[in-house]
Amino acid sequence: ASVGARRVSSTSSVGYASRGAVACSAGKVAVLGAAGGIGQPLSMLVKMLPSVKELSLYDIQGTKGVAADLSHCNTACKVTGYVGEEELTSALEGCDLVIIPAGVPRKPGMTRDDLFNINAGIVKSLATACAEVCPNAILNIISNPVNSTVPICNEVYKAKGITGASARILGVTTLDIVRSNTFLAEECGLDVDQVDVPVIGGHAGVTILPLLSQMRPKVQLENKRIEELTTRIQNAGTEVVEAKAGAGSATLSMAYAAARFAESCLRGLQGDKVYECAYIESSLIPDLEYFASKVQLGPNGVEEVFEVGQVSDFEQQGIEGLIPELKKSIAKGQEFAKN
Ligand code: NAD
Ligand code: LMR
Repeated sequence: ASVGARRVSSTSSVGYASRGAVACSAGKVAVLGAAGGIGQPLSMLVKMLPSVKELSLYDIQGTKGVAADLSHCNTACKVTGYVGEEELTSALEGCDLVIIPAGVPRKPGMTRDDLFNINAGIVKSLATACAEVCPNAILNIISNPVNSTVPICNEVYKAKGITGASARILGVTTLDIVRSNTFLAEECGLDVDQVDVPVIGGHAGVTILPLLSQMRPKVQLENKRIEELTTRIQNAGTEVVEAKAGAGSATLSMAYAAARFAESCLRGLQGDKVYECAYIESSLIPDLEYFASKVQLGPNGVEEVFEVGQVSDFEQQGIEGLIPELKKSIAKGQEFAKN
């Protein structure tokens, strides 16, 4: 299989190009945290996907207004707003895909792990509801720290005896790919639609590892430039947090990336073979229970996890260097979920 190639063009990934085109319906999608900085633009982009028949917007505040607003857009998908815990079950009933950007974002000076104390509990309670109401839905986990929140969700499902769920519990790392593609296209003077950079590992600091040696098309870059670009990709979230100066983290680019990933998941559900990178439970790296990898999406979520493949010495060092931090974040999530 060809791996890591961009399957969704920048136009079709949010449905603009294909709006009105024939597409079989993938049914119902829920966004949990739909009234937030990511939730609102993401919900709009999902409303524009031709394959989505129903869109549930859930939050602890503000969703009735967001739903009323979005429902006036003349796309075929029906939008309903649900607010507060007592409406969560109704929001999730019959969902095929649940996207979770609920939780607090970083402020300057914070790490993603600093969000754990608030977001871990939010994600655990939302995952519990998903496991009870729509256990077969695919989950797209956006809430940080993703390196820990995905293990939390898996533990919730395991505790409920739901088997095979790890193929459907996907940490969204697409923004790392989107950023890498953008930065490398700028750097090399390439058409961004032709650029594909796989990003593996996790979604925080050094755990974000772009594989520039596997970039398509192949380019020659000096080692020093490769190191600088890698650092920029690893710090790109912080770049946005600092530029927003206390007003939050990436929302628009994240909504764009999450819409692309959601569309890929929906295409997979409809039987297409789709390739993305995602942070998932796997046995790819000895000693690490979770790792962001190149995957093939299909009707059951992740159908295949691809080996890391050939990497440069610099990338190999990056893999070895990220293991301790990733391991710690995984254990932190697992322990939280069990207690
Ligand atoms: P935000 O504060 O603007 O929005 C969060 C929303 O979650 C709010 O509307 C809030 O009411 C809602 N919420 C809080 N508790 C909830 C609960 N129990 N149930 C449902 N909704 C709840 O934040 P944001 O900028 O949208 O960011 C959301 C999360 O996404 C943060 O944790 C952020 O770090 C993360 N994020 C991840 C990536 C990624 O690449 N995976 C990128 C950007 C941001
Ligand atoms: C990002 O990469 O933009 C997100 O994880 C948000 C953050 O805190 O940086």
